[in-house]
Amino acid sequence: TTTLKAAAGSRYFGAALAAGHLSNASDPDFALFAQEQFSGATPENEMKWDATEPSEGVFTFSQGDQVASFAVSNNMLLRGHTLVWHSQLPAWVSTLTGDDLLNAMNNHITTVMTHFQGQTFAWDVVNEAFNDDGTLGTSPFLTQLGSGYIETAFTTARAADPTAKLYINDFNTEGINAKSDALLETVQSLKASNLIDGVGFQSHFIVGEVPQDLQQNLQRFADAGVDVAITELDIRMTVPASEANLQQQATDYAFVINACQAVSRCVGITTWGIPDIYSWVPGTFPGQGAALLFDDNYNEKPAFSSTIDALSN
Ligand code: G3I
Repeated sequence: TTTLKAAAGSRYFGAALAAGHLSNASDPDFALFAQEQFSGATPENEMKWDATEPSEGVFTFSQGDQVASFAVSNNMLLRGHTLVWHSQLPAWVSTLTGDDLLNAMNNHITTVMTHFQGQTFAWDVVNEAFNDDGTLGTSPFLTQLGSGYIETAFTTARAADPTAKLYINDFNTEGINAKSDALLETVQSLKASNLIDGVGFQSHFIVGEVPQDLQQNLQRFADAGVDVAITELDIRMTVPASEANLQQQATDYAFVINACQAVSRCVGITTWGIPDIYSWVPGTFPGQGAALLFDDNYNEKPAFSSTIDALSN
């Protein structure tokens, strides 16, 4: 039997890794499965603003370094996640106004990217900037800096690490809709100034509800001249999981893999965790879960087999 990373061939197959799980002596399987199955890694929380700059100008990289060195020493492609996001933002950022916030944003981007340069092959520079209707979402950045904050962030990121692929990352943009239309316009405008290299589609799906135009949507972004990636894949269901839902989930995972594989600029797929037991889903959607490829005890689920089969095609 093969592994996800072997089956994925020239694409990477990644997972979100949490430093606390990697170093948890009572669960050695987490690091073991990460090493054996995955060729990509994204720190689940460790490179976010609250983790890296909890007080203004005070940077803490120990947690991010743990994930980075694990990824690099295991030949995993490391995605930096994430620099400018309204969530997991320490309170001090929201107190700044005007140029003070502009300087803080630029300093944050530059310091974090410089620290991880050579380890991170890509960065989610801006995360979840849009509302479902395609307008820009409320954030201190929008309020204080205006809609130009996105281009400013990418300009700063490009200068900070010219070797990194710069991504914009979002959810509910996997199908063709008002939100992905707005995202595409922003991507085209950033691309015209050579400020962006890729678009991340988070892909937090519900079983049986994967957008059927996923491939078509990935392709229209690729046609704009950027890479695309599935960055946070999971497919949740009511728990305890029924056999029917586990089978539907297997079909849904294969559909997502096939969509990526049909788009030559789709460079990789990342699942948002390894075993179901650590997934963010039950904490955010009570009564939902079982969203990943391995169950609570690291047993391969039907979706693992369908993913291997789809990757092998
Ligand atoms: O570290 C504290 C710990 O000290 C405390 O005891 C505990 C009690 O609640 O909380 C811990 O922090 C939690 C943190 O994860 C680390 O485990 C936060 O409460 C919790 O809110 C946080 O959740 C993360 C979430 O982002 C926050 O926005 C999830 O782990 C993480 O999977 C999730 O990831 C996001 C992506 O970054 C962006 N796209 C959506 C995705 C899912 O929400």
